[in-house]
Amino acid sequence: ARREALSIVVLGASGDLARKKTLPALFSLYYHDLLPSDFYVVGYARSNMTSEAFRNTIKSSLTCRVIEGPECARKMEHFLSRCFYVSGTYHETTAFRTLDEFLVNEFEKERWNRGVPTNRLYYLAIPSNVFAEACRGIAHAHTKPPESTKGWMRVVLEKPFGRDLDTFQTLHQELQLYISEEQTFRIDHYLGKELVQNVLALRFANYFLEPLWNNQHIQSIQVTFKENFGVEGRAGYFDQYGIIRDIMQNHLLQMVALFTMEQPASLNAEDIRDEKVKVLRSLETLRATDFVIGQYMGYREEDGVRPGSKTPTFAACRMNIRNRRWDGVPILVKAGKHLDERLAEVRVTFRSVPGSIFSLANTLPNNELVVRVQPDEAIYLRIVSKSPGLTSRLEEARLTLFYRTAWEEAHDIPDAYERLILDVIYGDKSLFIRSDELKVAWEKFTPALHELEQSDRYRPVPYVAGSRGPAEADYLAARYGCVWASDLDIGGKRLQ
Ligand code: BG6
Repeated sequence: ARREALSIVVLGASGDLARKKTLPALFSLYYHDLLPSDFYVVGYARSNMTSEAFRNTIKSSLTCRVIEGPECARKMEHFLSRCFYVSGTYHETTAFRTLDEFLVNEFEKERWNRGVPTNRLYYLAIPSNVFAEACRGIAHAHTKPPESTKGWMRVVLEKPFGRDLDTFQTLHQELQLYISEEQTFRIDHYLGKELVQNVLALRFANYFLEPLWNNQHIQSIQVTFKENFGVEGRAGYFDQYGIIRDIMQNHLLQMVALFTMEQPASLNAEDIRDEKVKVLRSLETLRATDFVIGQYMGYREEDGVRPGSKTPTFAACRMNIRNRRWDGVPILVKAGKHLDERLAEVRVTFRSVPGSIFSLANTLPNNELVVRVQPDEAIYLRIVSKSPGLTSRLEEARLTLFYRTAWEEAHDIPDAYERLILDVIYGDKSLFIRSDELKVAWEKFTPALHELEQSDRYRPVPYVAGSRGPAEADYLAARYGCVWASDLDIGGKRLQ
């Protein structure tokens, strides 16, 4: 490979996302020798700070995952010595000019003189209402390197990408004035999670699933996201968006797409994203009546929540994909904050055995393929088995793949952001959201969001923090002949 230099500019460097995710992920990539050797990180934010002070503030959030020790400390010092800080606003081109001059004068010019191409990765860890002005600043202030040393420029953004179809389109059009689709990397960090990445392999590198993977054999699909904590200091953001926009329209919808799409023509990013767009286009547009919404008690007293807020912290809905493969299979999706546990999983439930010769068979569960994204990554199949010995009793059993026991490496699964940042550096877009994908996601969710917000008929059902959420979600599942299976795991306990 050509020797190239990389500057990583983290906008919003003093904020939560940068401190908790972006900078630790960068350090971890560096620690594992995955960053290009000639790199530097420049933090940019409004607060006034020296580079030294910046290094001190981020130091406490860097870790070497499982491998602490002298090597870790040495590498950390080395990484920090390559971190710098420039302060500036997001709306002034002059501020971005200062940033650009810093990059050019401190690093790039010298490399250009040596014929080394310089790449720039801008990571926008800032609120989305300043995305457009920040991109304008970046584009307008950009000093062009000599053609022979020209590298790439990529911009990483993370949701919220608007609040509905219209606001998404306005934002998209504005951003397009400054950065091209090719330069844009839209993160959905669930796509960087180990088990979500495994879905394509599970479905398309194995034989046994495909013949069963349709409405002839599958009774329902359930996608569950639960957190056992509330909005935790993020109420200002969350109250404007709510759980449907925060989790469902993106993270969970992406999982639905990966589980239901057709096999892509190749593993090429465009082929994968084409298939996701196609299946999402077949999704029936959601309406308010497809939803149950809830709000945990005490939410309205949180700092930053508007008085009398109707923002849902829980939502459950039923989706239907109207194509030959899936029509009629209820896809039940549920997301909630402040529930009884932290869990993200997908369950594919097969139909019951027709004409069973076992008298008690119908008291046992249907086969179910479970992909547990977190915690304790696992894939398992619920089956029915004869219990051993001089008995003909049937029992539920599991064929299991628990990551922690199956693989040594599973003790050190990288954070989703590590994978994603690495892919930005290599220019692989398979795990990033294309604009047409986002557009169709908003098209499917916007009518329901508007109905839920604009009509007084829909008010979130209060639920006790730490509970399973509103019972109405159970009635919703029952309407489609289902129960939320994850709540009923063996003996009420999660399988370890
Ligand atoms: C974020 C949401 O996208 O995902 C948060 O904004 C949520 O509200 C978080 O807590 C969950 O991510 P993870 O990786 O902890 O499951």
